Amino acid sequence: MKVLITGTSQGIGKAIAELFLQKGHCVVGMDREEATIVGENYSHIVCDVRNELPEIPDVEILVNNAGTQNEDDIDINLKSLIRVTEKYGVRKGIVSVLNIGSASGHTGAEFPEYCASKGGVIAYTKNVALRVAQFGAVCNSLDPGGVLTPLNDCVVNDPALWDQIMAETPLKRWATAEEIAQWAYFLTVDNRFCTGQSIVVDGGESINSRFIWPE
Ligand SMILES: NC(=O)c1ccc[n+]([C@@H]2O[C@H](COP(=O)([O-])OP(=O)(O)OC[C@H]3O[C@@H](n4cnc5c(N)ncnc54)[C@H](O)[C@@H]3O)[C@@H](O)[C@H]2O)c1
Repeated sequence: MKVLITGTSQGIGKAIAELFLQKGHCVVGMDREEATIVGENYSHIVCDVRNELPEIPDVEILVNNAGTQNEDDIDINLKSLIRVTEKYGVRKGIVSVLNIGSASGHTGAEFPEYCASKGGVIAYTKNVALRVAQFGAVCNSLDPGGVLTPLNDCVVNDPALWDQIMAETPLKRWATAEEIAQWAYFLTVDNRFCTGQSIVVDGGESINSRFIWPE
């Protein structure tokens, strides 16, 4: 299938692109940085998703992954995701749209504009699911907790902060980008009936509420 993925130069988007390529799909990556993937079935467009978007015909799977933290979060994580989806995703021929949100869109934790942008992604995911159903297509969001990517180097490489984070994480680890890519693949290729849903993959962090009761 023809797959458009935003934010493929590093992190989760790169891992998702590499998995689709391994499985034999044709991937177009869009990132404001140069390509870091080389492959016969991979083509790369250097483009900031806030700017004018190029013509890319016949996209069958769209993965909206490009995102930031504390840099124009509403514009990049939400408004540009909407523009990209309206251009490439809401049309005849689309099979699946996947938005990479965040567990913080459910919990309200993290930075104000970041969690608000990701909360918006949850609502917009349902809106798109309702509109692409006429094409037999699905739209979901995949909402990770902590993932081991360069975005998080500042806490992953600080032993004291890392200990605090692990104390909040029932499964005592963070996901790898490759693990999130497996979820992305399942939700867009294998899944044909789950739609309008937001799947939290966070090692139990968001359900970690304490039960207070007499001993
Ligand atoms: N890493 C985590 O812990 C985590 C957790 C939850 C959700 N997420 C979400 O996953 C997605 C990917 O995060 P990551 O950790 O891989 O980040 P990352 O910073 O490692 O990679 C993001 C990629 O998106 C590109 N990008 C950013 N802004 C862009 C723009 N305006 N136009 C085009 N490309 C742009 C960057 O150049 C980069 O290649 C983001 O939407 C992020 O919010 C990440």
